[in-house]
Amino acid sequence: MLSAKSLFTEILDNDDSFRLFCSIAASGESQGGWENARIAALVPESERELAPKITRHGADEDKHGRIFNALMKKRGLDPVPVPPETDYTMLLEQNGIGLAHDKLKADQPLTVQDIVTYLAHSRVTEQRASEQMELLRKHFADHPDLGRAVKMISNDEDNHLAYCHEELLRFAHAGHGRDIQRILRECAHAEIRVYRDVSLAVMAHMGRILGWPKAKSAVLAAGIHAVYAYERAAGWRRMVSLKMPERRDALGGPATAAPEFA
Ligand SMILES: [Fe+2]
Ligand SMILES: [Fe+2]
Repeated sequence: MLSAKSLFTEILDNDDSFRLFCSIAASGESQGGWENARIAALVPESERELAPKITRHGADEDKHGRIFNALMKKRGLDPVPVPPETDYTMLLEQNGIGLAHDKLKADQPLTVQDIVTYLAHSRVTEQRASEQMELLRKHFADHPDLGRAVKMISNDEDNHLAYCHEELLRFAHAGHGRDIQRILRECAHAEIRVYRDVSLAVMAHMGRILGWPKAKSAVLAAGIHAVYAYERAAGWRRMVSLKMPERRDALGGPATAAPEFA
């Protein structure tokens, strides 16, 4: 039976696929950490109250990167290079989503518009992160090696998503509503394409490592295309809505440590 659980179990049980999975995840998380740290450093004066939350956001993503590296180390595995076609964060940036790295590397303060763009980009990508971690939590919360990590990261991603909703609503009330809706739509449409392409690329690598028969790979690819068709038709809407979250000020306060991992 081909289910999300059996698929993940297969990937997690094999050292080579496990370390590719963790390497891809660690690299995406640390890129996110770097981006947020740069944004926090360049926050414009008028938005400086937001800076500690952006710093916390970045610190959480860095922590996630360290956790995925620690999971590999625990099994005596070294990270492997991330194939560019599986690099979700880099592909989003190349598609003009979020803030360009050139801008983040420069030492010019960002504008309010940039901060709105960062939050809208994060609202879309954190939705993805939150759903993916929720799926892992559903199946592996009790896993002896991964359970704690999965639960912690999942909780953090839910916080990130709540924070994006809350802050974007604040900016919408301050008159940025039309811009926010436009950026969210552009971002969601680009993200679902990048997500499809990355999913196909990751599955192709996993299929080679695990020696999947052609028929199995074909079923998986068809599933990924079906998800994309659904997201393009209707699913994208869940990524652009804004609703005041139950968790308020989810990123107030310092990042929670993960001493058992890093
Ligand atoms: Fe993360
Ligand atoms: Fe996140």
